[in-house]
Amino acid sequence: MKLVTLRDILGKAEKGGYAVGAFNANNMEIVQAIIESAVEERSPVIIQASQGAIKYAGLDFIVSMVMTAAESADVPVVLHLDHGTDFSQVMRCIRHGFSSVMYDGSRLPLNENISITKKVVEVARAVGVSVEAELGKIGGTEDDVSVDERDALFTDPQEAKIFVEETGVDALAVAIGTAHGVYKGEPKLDFPRLRKIKELTDVPIVMHGSSGVPDAAIRQAVELGVSKINIDTDIRQAFVRSAVAYMKENPDNIDPRKILAPAKESAKKIIREKMRLFGSSGKA
Ligand code: G3H
Ligand code: ZN
Repeated sequence: MKLVTLRDILGKAEKGGYAVGAFNANNMEIVQAIIESAVEERSPVIIQASQGAIKYAGLDFIVSMVMTAAESADVPVVLHLDHGTDFSQVMRCIRHGFSSVMYDGSRLPLNENISITKKVVEVARAVGVSVEAELGKIGGTEDDVSVDERDALFTDPQEAKIFVEETGVDALAVAIGTAHGVYKGEPKLDFPRLRKIKELTDVPIVMHGSSGVPDAAIRQAVELGVSKINIDTDIRQAFVRSAVAYMKENPDNIDPRKILAPAKESAKKIIREKMRLFGSSGKA
């Protein structure tokens, strides 16, 4: 199948009351794990590559791997740039065949974030590519931040309304208490804030930092209108732990295929579980 965009799949997810998983890929085995999971679960899927993944694997390799995987799949597949912080990098991804990009201007003042996001949307729209943007600071969120600090870091619902109206983005990533990487304690999500953002904007909402978020909180977020859920850390953990376990048990085996095949299977297991949790299984 040809690659599709966020627009093609998130509207349906919103209407159907489910979310689509956006899984980070850094290498061939993880691309395969994501695509095979989607086919076996009959689920739409978003394969995303960060700037770091592109630096590691190379832009051409990422695009070729995902396009090859998508061609053989009979479920909708989006190739999405994750956290593009550099305008030129975002443009390169569009030119090389990404069907979707995230421009992340969340570290910038609101007006600058709006003006660069608008430029990205103008170019992307002209060539049929979808755009996700971010408002609020996801990375700096810690369990012990005070209410004032939370207000400064988290997405302001009124600002979200203005941002979406001004930029015309296809999806908005919000800061509501999740964080990237491994959590120290249990994350506490600000559901009233999410509800308010959803009330004021009519755009699909994206939840980053979703690895390690308890299942019940994920389900509640989906009920309140989150329709794209980003998972990276859970896949890394499953993949690397499995490879390490194999190497411990078989210290003399030097065949990379023997080490990476179980790692890929472990990644698939977690990805398939997430698809069921998000409700996207059976929706393709
Ligand atoms: O953009 C990627 C995701 O937000 C990754 O979040 O570290 O919780 O898997 P995670
Ligand atoms: Zn993220």
